[in-house]
Amino acid sequence: MRRPLSTCLGLGLGLGLGLGLGLGLGLSLCLAILCPQSVQADALRSAGHNATWQKECGACHVAYPPHLLPAASWRETMGSLERHFGTDASLEPAQAKEVLDFLTAYAGRRPAVGKDGKPLLRLTETAWFRHEHDEVPARLWKDSRVKHPSNCAACHRDAESGDFSERRLRLPK
Ligand code: HEC
Ligand code: HEC
Repeated sequence: MRRPLSTCLGLGLGLGLGLGLGLGLGLSLCLAILCPQSVQADALRSAGHNATWQKECGACHVAYPPHLLPAASWRETMGSLERHFGTDASLEPAQAKEVLDFLTAYAGRRPAVGKDGKPLLRLTETAWFRHEHDEVPARLWKDSRVKHPSNCAACHRDAESGDFSERRLRLPK
């Protein structure tokens, strides 16, 4: 027996609405009450946090989370701040030490070495980064709102708070 189209539509609509409402309510309740703090807390816990790092290394670009580069890379970076990608980012010795200790304590474990055998200074040149971003269309990288892959916040709207999850992606249209 063939079901009349209207029954199917009715069933479909009913199910859809019911599920949608239930899910929607559940989700928004969860988001409103439980999620934001716990998700943020999780992100911060896994990435670590340090006020000096956030302020000083977040002054010109987002403060790139320590786990995105290994300790050897951070040592190189912190050892050459007065020649930092064409700019002077040097810190007072005490601050530099605090930041270096923080970065190496929470550093990543994936090796990041250039063809010359030296530690990579750019996390955007790591195999990991390329792999995560291999589906980003070339035209987006060239978009005037992106300019360079290091401009994480052009696509990851919560990059400032260290949240790079897919959920918080918003690509420039
Ligand atoms: C005075 C401005 C300034 C400050 C302060 C600064 N940076 Fe940078 N940083 C730059 C510039 C400019 C670039 C290169 C941007 C580009 O062309 O991609 C850069 C790039 C980087 C990159 C490479 C990004 C990539 O492409 O993967 C890392 C890592 C980095 N900075 C870490 C740090 C750390 C750690 C600190 C704090 C100790 C810091 N920066 C402070 C200006 C600054
Ligand atoms: C042009 C837009 C764009 C820029 C700029 C960008 N990303 Fe992404 N990022 C993406 C897209 C798209 C994905 C992949 C989503 C997928 O297919 O899983 C992604 C994925 C990621 C992931 C994996 C997320 C997950 O939950 O699996 C991380 C971590 C990440 N990016 C970090 C960064 C960092 C750090 C920077 C800056 C140094 C950056 N991204 C710059 C678009 C961008």
